[in-house]
Amino acid sequence: MSEKKKIIAVMGATGAQGGGLVRAIQRDAAGEFTARAITRDVNSPAARQLAALGAEVVAADLYDPGSVARAFTGAYGAFCVTFYWAHMSPEKEQVEARTLAAAAKDAGLEHVVWSTLEDTRKFVPLTDNRMPTLMGKYKVPHFDAKGEADAAFASAGVPTTYLYTSFYWENFIYFGMGPKKGEDGKLTLTLPMGKAKLSGISAQDIGKCAYGIFKRGAPYIGRRLGIAGGFLTGAQMAATLGHALGKPVRYVAVPPDVYRSLGFPGADELGNMFQIDAEFQDQMMAARDLREAKALDPALQSFDAWARAHKDRIPTS
Ligand SMILES: NC(=O)c1ccc[n+]([C@@H]2O[C@H](COP(=O)([O-])OP(=O)(O)OC[C@H]3O[C@@H](n4cnc5c(N)ncnc54)[C@H](OP(=O)(O)O)[C@@H]3O)[C@@H](O)[C@H]2O)c1
Repeated sequence: MSEKKKIIAVMGATGAQGGGLVRAIQRDAAGEFTARAITRDVNSPAARQLAALGAEVVAADLYDPGSVARAFTGAYGAFCVTFYWAHMSPEKEQVEARTLAAAAKDAGLEHVVWSTLEDTRKFVPLTDNRMPTLMGKYKVPHFDAKGEADAAFASAGVPTTYLYTSFYWENFIYFGMGPKKGEDGKLTLTLPMGKAKLSGISAQDIGKCAYGIFKRGAPYIGRRLGIAGGFLTGAQMAATLGHALGKPVRYVAVPPDVYRSLGFPGADELGNMFQIDAEFQDQMMAARDLREAKALDPALQSFDAWARAHKDRIPTS
């Protein structure tokens, strides 16, 4: 008789990072784990897709701590991610992280992978005016809130791997950051990155790397590690997108101030983020290990492979 599988409770299971993890676990039929997919709506099409893969699908809402505690009970481990862009409040994101850490502690989980990012105030303190301070005490709120929330897991004594993620290449599809037709009709990729390299990854590969971490277990507990699928300049990304799309894409490097003033929701925050990515590219790249990411997820995609696979979904108008 086969041994009972260990349960990994996956927050954000119907989303990008968590979805990659649920699929990786369920695809590995011979593996030691099974996924418990957490969603607010067990009847949504996305939740049903996960159930069809054999995942247990359970309901919980991060704003109902009891439901999260129940969703973690009996599990071996959990993948913890928070949802900044659902509300754009760093304070709410920290409440979410504390709820996750407390539930993990109460459930006695043996391994948590916490999807985090750097607190950018360690690079640019609030007194540094090279970029505006946002919401009173942040430089890049969705980074800073996650970095600050690392302490929730540490102080609760939860056995945690702190996983530093990277810019999703899917932002070129869903987040309005992809190439756009300029006045001359030519496709243009506009980023405030100058000639610096951006750490990027396909979002689903974050979940796949997390699966590699759960499989390796103990040596990863207490570790901080960063993952990326590639480090590329704006010019390199534009050239690769152009190649995949079969039409040239020009890179236009705008100053961060110009990007911050573009007027879309979050433009100021993303302007600050890209400025940090550019000015601290060495630190951002040093904190992310392409080789380790590839070892954790042997099918890790390069940007070139990602662009070719997604060329029909990248908007070009
Ligand atoms: N975009 C980037 O480049 C990038 C890069 C690195 C990190 N990040 C970070 O990634 C995080 C989001 O992760 P993601 O992209 O994997 O998420 P996502 O694809 O936007 O969705 C995650 C899922 O979370 C669930 N969810 C939302 N609010 C919830 C709540 N209150 N309680 C329980 N579940 C809830 C939703 O599922 P249901 O509707 O099924 O409940 C949703 O499908 C953000 O904090 C962001 O800062 C983004």
